[in-house]
Amino acid sequence: MSNNSFTHKPKKEQVRTMFNDIAHRYDFLNHFLSAGIDIQWRKKVKRLLVDKKHDNILDVATGTADLAIELSKLNPKHIHGVDIAVDMLDIGKLKIRKKGLGNLITLQEGDAENLNFDDGSFDAATVAFGVRNFETLQKGLMEMHRVINTGGIIIVLEFSKPKAFPFKQLYNFYFRFILPLFGQFVSKSNSAYTYLPNSVKGFAEDEVFMNELKKAGFKRPKQQRLTMGIATIYYAHK
Ligand SMILES: C[S@@+](CC[C@H](N)C(=O)[O-])C[C@H]1O[C@@H](n2cnc3c(N)ncnc32)[C@H](O)[C@@H]1O
Repeated sequence: MSNNSFTHKPKKEQVRTMFNDIAHRYDFLNHFLSAGIDIQWRKKVKRLLVDKKHDNILDVATGTADLAIELSKLNPKHIHGVDIAVDMLDIGKLKIRKKGLGNLITLQEGDAENLNFDDGSFDAATVAFGVRNFETLQKGLMEMHRVINTGGIIIVLEFSKPKAFPFKQLYNFYFRFILPLFGQFVSKSNSAYTYLPNSVKGFAEDEVFMNELKKAGFKRPKQQRLTMGIATIYYAHK
């Protein structure tokens, strides 16, 4: 993590504190800083699930539940969302109540690396912009593998790094300088929006991430790079 005042705490605690601190501004900043593209990316995750009925879905690191709410349009029997940051969940719960989705979506505090669900409980597990924050990526992926049933699917939406000139250079300037400044100003958090580019910088992508999925037991991993590679969707089966 980027902020030295945090370095004595385990990553999980730092991440939890950071997301609790910015929870009240998270949705606004997400949509504003991405010019609303994040909404389209979550719709793409949903589209990967339309061809088959997925009755029980787990959304890991659900935050304020934007993906869980999007997935409710698939008409599943139930969606569970888990996150370690209760203030993010509280905002998600409010949105779910306002949309009348209380019977369909349940949010609860929970750690991706130690999921409180039985083996094979879900037909699909999703995680949007969450895996990068896990303390141990493999632990989180293995847990998602455990709780989905055979034939089930995992879908991971995560930031990646654009490669093409000159978009790469322009985007890097925005992501490293403009976004942290604006994010800090609006959220009043000194660390969250410098943590964002730093955590993306060193994070696994492309083949490297798909190998992590294989290591966790998933089969036939595939990827779709989105919006010039700003984000990538990975999916694989159990
Ligand atoms: C960038 S937000 C993404 C939220 C949401 N999925 C979205 O698409 O907007 C990352 C979330 O991951 C959560 N998180 C990080 N590590 C976690 C873990 N080990 N278990 C559960 N949630 C975690 C954070 O608390 C935060 O709410």
